[in-house]
Amino acid sequence: MTTQTGATAVARPGLGEPILTVNGMVKYFPITRGILFRSKIGDVKAVDGVDFVLHKGETLGVVGESGCGKSTLAKLLMRLETATAGTAIYDGRDIVAAKGGELRRLRRQVQMVMQDPYTSLNPRMTVGDIIAEPLVIHGVGGNDKARESRVRELLDVVGLNPEHINRYPHQFSGGQRQRVGIARALALNPEIIICDEPVSALDVSIQAQVINLLEKLQAELGLSYIFIAHDLSVVRHICDRVAVMYLGRIVELGTEDEIYSRATHPYTQALLSAVPVPDPDAREHRQIIRLSGDVPSPANPPSGCRFRTRCWKATDLCAQETPALIEREADPHLSACHYAERAEHIIG
Ligand SMILES: Nc1ncnc2c1ncn2[C@@H]1O[C@H](COP(=O)(O)OP(=O)(O)OP(=O)(O)O)[C@@H](O)[C@H]1O
Ligand SMILES: [Mg+2]
Repeated sequence: MTTQTGATAVARPGLGEPILTVNGMVKYFPITRGILFRSKIGDVKAVDGVDFVLHKGETLGVVGESGCGKSTLAKLLMRLETATAGTAIYDGRDIVAAKGGELRRLRRQVQMVMQDPYTSLNPRMTVGDIIAEPLVIHGVGGNDKARESRVRELLDVVGLNPEHINRYPHQFSGGQRQRVGIARALALNPEIIICDEPVSALDVSIQAQVINLLEKLQAELGLSYIFIAHDLSVVRHICDRVAVMYLGRIVELGTEDEIYSRATHPYTQALLSAVPVPDPDAREHRQIIRLSGDVPSPANPPSGCRFRTRCWKATDLCAQETPALIEREADPHLSACHYAERAEHIIG
């Protein structure tokens, strides 16, 4: 299908082999009315035409406000939800269309770390059983003894004491629980890990430790990450590239440096203006952009550019024509804005 953004996912030279190619990804959740005779009265357009390439060993940040479709995108790639349209090609196979044994194999290779370590771990299972569960489900890892030694090894890899294998989640702190979640995600030796706001529920002092662990594991195991976050400050140091999402679509995509110093989409510029700046000189010169109004409902998104209702640059053109996610200006990154231009002094 032609993609809604008008762009096709293209691999970027110099970033390694493409490992996952997502094209035209769409997820609509039907809105129904009535109890006996359910009739469809609309759709929540949670993801509405997303294209990107994830490269081997890369960390791609996915950033945007609450409800813009980040977790839905993650679930589509994990096949926890089935896409309405689109393809996600991993290792020559389409995750969206995979069935049976092929889907099971794909599920081993793509794992997820959830947002909330307090609710994502079963409180009635020991951490040993939690980490071993994927091995049991997929029938790998040998006998009980071999699995236990793999679990001890995984506990050690994520910086937990292997002697705590029989403890329960409530006996660990938030940061330690997220390490358990990471160990579980690693159990099947995946190639891709989707981290859905892995540090948002943790104290700021603990966040850096978990991010450092993820970086260490990536260097040692050659993992590729999709790292989802609410705001741009969290992803800055871990991401090679950043995709900014608004109402189900990517509005800007570029390397960390391009996004932080040469963002051209007004929405990205507004998000950047909210990132704390430690340097007082830079703080004095920076431009603060306050967005008016709320994010419109994904059941009834604005025509044309979805950001136009909150954008200070919007004209009639923005209501009539959806801007494609293409290269704008001289910078080699993608921006979906008719009036894309670099703004000075947003982040100092
Ligand atoms: N199972 C579902 N049924 C109906 N609507 C859904 C479902 N899951 C998500 N949505 C809707 O899809 C939209 C995108 O939700 P999603 O959870 O993907 O956003 P998000 O970017 O992860 O937000 P947050 O930052 O709050 O985690 C929201 O409007 C949400 O209400
Ligand atoms: Mg989410």
